[in-house]
Amino acid sequence: MAYAAFRSIGAYIPPKIMTNFDFEKIIDTTDEWITKRTGIKERRISEENEASSDLGAKAAQQAIERSGLAKEDIDLVICATVTPDYLCMPSTACLIASKINLPPVQAFDVSAACTGFVYAVSVAKAFIESGMKKNVLIVGAETYSSILDYTDRGTCFIFGDGAGAAIISASENKDEAIVDVNCSSDGNYDDLIKTPGGGSKHPCSQEVLDNKMACIKMKGNETFKLAVRTLTADVKVMMEKHNLTNKDINHFIPHQANMRIIKSVGDALGFNEEQTVVTIDKYGNTSAASIPMAMNYAYEQGKIKAGDSILFDAFGGGLTWGSALFPFAPLK
Ligand SMILES: CC(C)(COP(=O)(O)OP(=O)(O)OC[C@H]1O[C@@H](n2cnc3c(N)ncnc32)[C@H](O)[C@@H]1OP(=O)(O)O)[C@@H](O)C(=O)NCCC(=O)NCCS
Repeated sequence: MAYAAFRSIGAYIPPKIMTNFDFEKIIDTTDEWITKRTGIKERRISEENEASSDLGAKAAQQAIERSGLAKEDIDLVICATVTPDYLCMPSTACLIASKINLPPVQAFDVSAACTGFVYAVSVAKAFIESGMKKNVLIVGAETYSSILDYTDRGTCFIFGDGAGAAIISASENKDEAIVDVNCSSDGNYDDLIKTPGGGSKHPCSQEVLDNKMACIKMKGNETFKLAVRTLTADVKVMMEKHNLTNKDINHFIPHQANMRIIKSVGDALGFNEEQTVVTIDKYGNTSAASIPMAMNYAYEQGKIKAGDSILFDAFGGGLTWGSALFPFAPLK
C-alpha cells in the first residue's frame, strides 16, 4: 500500500493591508475592541481584479517549487474554497491548474468553509492510499472581501483574503505517512455561518441584492462557543486514538478564527505558546486558506523541520470540523 506524505507548503499573502483603524472609518468600532475580542490587528485584501484562483495559483506555484517535483508529476488538483471565482462553474481548481500551466489533470473543488483545507488533506490521502493518484496539489484559496457586507459591524472585520497550498505524494516509507485525518459535519447548525442568497434556495434576485443575501451572515456569539467545544473535543479524540500527549506534537496549527478561541483550545489541550502557530493578528480569518497560510508562516520562520509532527485543527460553516496528524516529510 502507498502511504500519503505531506511534502511541501506554500502561500500567497496579498500585499494590500486593511487595519483595524481602517474599519474605524467605515463601521462603529475601535481598534481596541477588535483587538480585545479577536486578536486581529490587520488582514490582507486582494486587488479588485484578483479572484481566488489568482491567489491560489501563486500559492500552488510556490508549493510545487518547494516540493522538488515537476509540474507534469501532479496528477490531481483539489481547491478548498467557499469564495470560488464563479458560483457554479468552472471550478476554481480547474482555473488554478490552467493558470500554473499544468497539463490536463483531474481538478475539483471541495466546499467545507474554514475546514476546507483539512477536508482536502483527507481526500488527497484517500486518493493516494487507494493507488489512484501519486502527487496531489491541494490549495486553500479565499477572497472573503468579495462576500463581506462592510456595513455588518458584527462580522466584516473578522475575515481576510489569501491562499495556501501543499503537495501530498505517495511514499513507500511508513515513517513519512500522514497518520490520520478525521473530518465531520452537522448541518443542523447551518444558520450559524451562512451566505443565504444567490444559490438554488434563493436564486439571485433584486431581493437577494437589496438585502445583501449573497454576503456572509454570522451568529458570532453562538459560533464562538461551539468552536471552542468542537475544536477541543476533536483533537482530544485524535490524540487519544493514537495514544499521544501534547508533548508528542511539535506544531499545533489551529484554524485562525479568533485569538480567544485559539487560546481556550490550546489551554484546554495543554499546548504552549511555542507549539501553537498564530497568525490571526496579521491575516485575520482566511477560512480554507487559514491553516496552510499559518503553516507556511511557521515554515518561513524556520520553525518547521523535516520529521516534525504537526496537528491541524479546523472548524467552520456547515458546521464542519476536522483534524489532521502528520509528520512534515519534504523530499529534499
Ligand atoms: C464576532 C465576535 C468578535 C463578537 O464578540 P462578542 O463578544 O460575541 O460580541 P457580541 O456579539 O456579544 O456583542 C457584544 C457587544 O459588542 C457590540 N459590537 C458588535 N460588533 C462590534 C464592533 N465591531 N465594534 C464594537 N462593538 C461591537 C455589540 O453591539 C454588543 O453591544 P451591547 O453589549 O451594547 O449590546 C465573537 O462573537 C466571535 O469572534 N465569534 C466567533 C466568530 C468566528 O470565529 N467565526 C468564524 C468561525 S470559522
